[in-house]
Amino acid sequence: MSAAPGPKANGSAYTARFRVWRGDADGGELRDFDVEVHEGEVVLDIIHRLQATQANDLAVRWNCKAGKCGSCSAEINGRPRLMCMTRMSVFAPDETVTVTPMRAFPVVRDLVTDVSFNYTKAREIPSFVPPPGLRAGEYRMRQEDVGRSQEFRKCIECFLCQNTCHVVRDHEENKQAFAGPRFLMRIAELDMHPLDSAEESGLDRKSAAQEEHGLGYCNITKCCTEVCPENIKITDNALIPLKERAVDRKYDPLVWLGNKIRRR
Ligand code: SF4
Ligand code: SF4
Ligand code: FES
Repeated sequence: MSAAPGPKANGSAYTARFRVWRGDADGGELRDFDVEVHEGEVVLDIIHRLQATQANDLAVRWNCKAGKCGSCSAEINGRPRLMCMTRMSVFAPDETVTVTPMRAFPVVRDLVTDVSFNYTKAREIPSFVPPPGLRAGEYRMRQEDVGRSQEFRKCIECFLCQNTCHVVRDHEENKQAFAGPRFLMRIAELDMHPLDSAEESGLDRKSAAQEEHGLGYCNITKCCTEVCPENIKITDNALIPLKERAVDRKYDPLVWLGNKIRRR
């Protein structure tokens, strides 16, 4: 007689039911596996055990297993998360754990997606423009300004925020016009940087955010902030201030007059 399916306890170890998406760009399906779980393990450990014991060709991307490389992003029971930072203890032993690839990006194979959309968007944002007349070592900033950009610099580029944002999650057609929260945050960081001299060199980061990178599509739902593993307050500290600055600029009478004169 075969053993009954489902979880089986064995001391502190137990067998969990995992439902994992297998397939490629042409299609795929969820498959069930029973995998051993030990105390203290995370979802990535179980995926590795599954790969070692039952599905040797399962594709999964990871590097650090410490929440720092941003490679192991996936959807676990429908929620975008890092596999290496999701403890098995958050699930009941008899709960089925479903692991699927990030939904907003094309699947390469199994749990691996093609995230090149993000690299394309990164390349579209002009980098920091150094202040003229100052050499390296002569830059001075107030600690308050350093602290502000340090929050954004914690980003590990896991792209979970990009994957979650409803503007692109269900609307592939918006991808061209919308940079997504990670890259709008990058524009905000540069725009707040007291030494960035983009404006002096003729680059208006605020209007570029609005007109070229789709800032107006963001309706500040904060879903991106909720999934950020670095707890960066993307919406409150980057997107809302950037929106406010863009609006201030648009309705500033001096800017309006300047634009009008320049257009003549
Ligand atoms: S706050 Fe804006 S960028 Fe973030 S998920 Fe919502 S719409 Fe997308
Ligand atoms: S902002 Fe947060 S969620 Fe978005 S890519 Fe960076 S670390 Fe990941
Ligand atoms: S393996 Fe590096 S963040 Fe998960």
